[in-house]
Amino acid sequence: MAAPKNDTFLRALLRQPAPYTPVWLMRQAGRYLPEYNQTRARAGDFLSLCKNPAFATEVTLQPLQRFPFDAAILFSDILTIPDAMGLGLHFADGEGPKFYRPLRDERDIRALAVPDPTAELRYVLEAVREIRRALNDSVPLIGFSGSPFTLACYMIEGGASSDFRHVKTMLYQRPDLLHRILDVNARAVTAYLNAQIEHGAQVVMIFDTWGGALSHAAYPEFSLGYMSKIIAGLIRKRDGERVPIIVFTKGGGGWLNAIAECGCDAVGLDWTVDIGAARAAIGQRVALQGNLDPSVLFAEPQVIEAEVAKVLASFGAGDGHVFNLGHGISQFTQPDRVHAMVEAVHRLSPQYHCLTTAA
Ligand code: CP3
Repeated sequence: MAAPKNDTFLRALLRQPAPYTPVWLMRQAGRYLPEYNQTRARAGDFLSLCKNPAFATEVTLQPLQRFPFDAAILFSDILTIPDAMGLGLHFADGEGPKFYRPLRDERDIRALAVPDPTAELRYVLEAVREIRRALNDSVPLIGFSGSPFTLACYMIEGGASSDFRHVKTMLYQRPDLLHRILDVNARAVTAYLNAQIEHGAQVVMIFDTWGGALSHAAYPEFSLGYMSKIIAGLIRKRDGERVPIIVFTKGGGGWLNAIAECGCDAVGLDWTVDIGAARAAIGQRVALQGNLDPSVLFAEPQVIEAEVAKVLASFGAGDGHVFNLGHGISQFTQPDRVHAMVEAVHRLSPQYHCLTTAA
């Protein structure tokens, strides 16, 4: 398959010159779009949407039909892996994800095994293939997975948690058991991401949504170390093109130097970080992705434009910036606000780029 016609996103991830700053949004396909809600209703529920490649393709493309995003992201969920491990994923209405069989018992932990992505997760790989076909090389496709620690949080807690009581008890009381889970998860994520790459994902992103809940000392041991291990096992070149890797630890601002050393090409930043300071610290080693506060999109277009301008100015002149929110878009966002944001990024960013130095 050919390189994408719009390769600004790949260029930014590799810190190569581009004419403007590319932009996409975490959760760009989702409940803020009425057409997403319609397709989900046709599918029956969220999981049926994920498990049907034709529906997954349809909703992946929806935001691109509305907005000139510079990348597409596979429509799926990070919890497909623990689902494939047999934990029994379901979504209770309005309560987020839940598992019928949370992982707490030593015997269950010892029995945990790496799922074969080409068997239990075949529906994801088929979606990747179908989305690539439908994109027709217009923009690159991002594949993704949760980090081993973030997956373990859901697997052990059995759903969302505000205090991570069970996972943290295990971390301090039985670190050997938590390490056993993280090791299986890391091997599962490696196989899963490599299968996504083999089926057509051109970039992969690891979502470490809960790494920031760890103590300063625990983060390298229980989250970052396993992400480094995954990256060391990933396919880095496919069809002659480098496959860039993005690592995003929400709340990871205190470990940026260590994250920049994990082997990734780009580091995702949440909105609590000053992107200019992050660039000064690690911008020579990796590209940066982020980091507008998602709540900015609740404001009027003039405010959105001013906030976009601040993020662009803080990063400053040069390449290696992928514009994004600091976390997923809220379901309560009005779609026209996204339009204002994307338009502002594309209009205000060329002044920071100097493509001519590349020639
Ligand atoms: O970015 C995209 O458009 C791709 C799709 C995507 C989804 N989930 C779709 C989804 C991605 C990349 C994810 C990742 C994901 N899933 C993460 C990591 C990123 C993050 O947000 O921190 C996490 C922690 C999950 C687990 C998960 N899935 C939760 C906590 C929830 C409930 C969220 C909520 O707001 O209720 C989900 C459900 C989910 N995943 C939805 C979508 C569009 C909403 C489900 C629905 O339509 O009812």
